[in-house]
Amino acid sequence: MIVVPGPASPKVGQSVADLMGAKKVMVEYKNFPDGESYIRLADSVAGEDVVLVHTTYPQPDKRLLELLLLVDTLKDLGASTVRAVVPYMAYARQDTRFRDGEAVSIRALFKLIEKAGCDEFYTIDLHKEGTLDTFTIKAKNLYASEVISSYLRGMGLENPYILSPDRGALSIARRVGESLGAEYGNFEKTRDRVTGAITVKGEKVDARGRDVVITDDLISTGGTIANACRIVKEGGAKRVIAVCSHPLLVAGAYERMRGAGLDEVLGTDSVDSDIGKIPVAPLIAKEFR
Ligand code: R5P
Repeated sequence: MIVVPGPASPKVGQSVADLMGAKKVMVEYKNFPDGESYIRLADSVAGEDVVLVHTTYPQPDKRLLELLLLVDTLKDLGASTVRAVVPYMAYARQDTRFRDGEAVSIRALFKLIEKAGCDEFYTIDLHKEGTLDTFTIKAKNLYASEVISSYLRGMGLENPYILSPDRGALSIARRVGESLGAEYGNFEKTRDRVTGAITVKGEKVDARGRDVVITDDLISTGGTIANACRIVKEGGAKRVIAVCSHPLLVAGAYERMRGAGLDEVLGTDSVDSDIGKIPVAPLIAKEFR
């Protein structure tokens, strides 16, 4: 088995290869002057079982195109199998036609990835795991809660409450809560489908004097976390920590969350960020060892 660290995941891909004791084949890549993507595999992959590690953020459209080019090229150059590992899968939130005429983006992308020749697909904390049923090939979601819980265990949390800011991410809070032996629950969030404005309601959580850990699959603008943080701080939480699987952190997100009183924000390294302290490579390597 060989590992190909894609241009979007050089560090994670290399760590996966190191942990597996597998050979790496690197990818040369550049942009043409008109913005088109160029990729070239630097060594032979003929007859090999390939694990390709390539995330899709930042620049999701470009990274997705590279993913398709890589899968197709690997198969075209004779790889026996291509297992695509996409630590963060972009477009996963557009999993439904919320308004008439909308693209169901994640399903369209999964069809393209399979069509490119992918034999197996893996991702981490996909926004809605059920959308993997678009694939007819093997497709699996890995749970970051495993590495997140280990990290939190070392933080000396006091009487922690693990909170999901909405019902959709409750499964993450449940897995982390069960792993830490901590109470967990969720707030309710609604989003205006036109303006994107969110409202978070949270009556049920007794946060007084406790360390509250808000878990979510991703942080984009930070609005969801900021709203949940304000509620638990007003409810008397001692310390509020946010932890996410995918810290996209668009401009202003960090400041927005800190402005709401958040004490600390953490993420995995599924995408590059300043807060990605929790490595996902052990999770991926374990899957293929
Ligand atoms: C949506 O339901 C996701 O799970 C996240 O809660 C959401 O996408 C975070 O976005 P933002 O950081 O912009 O509030």
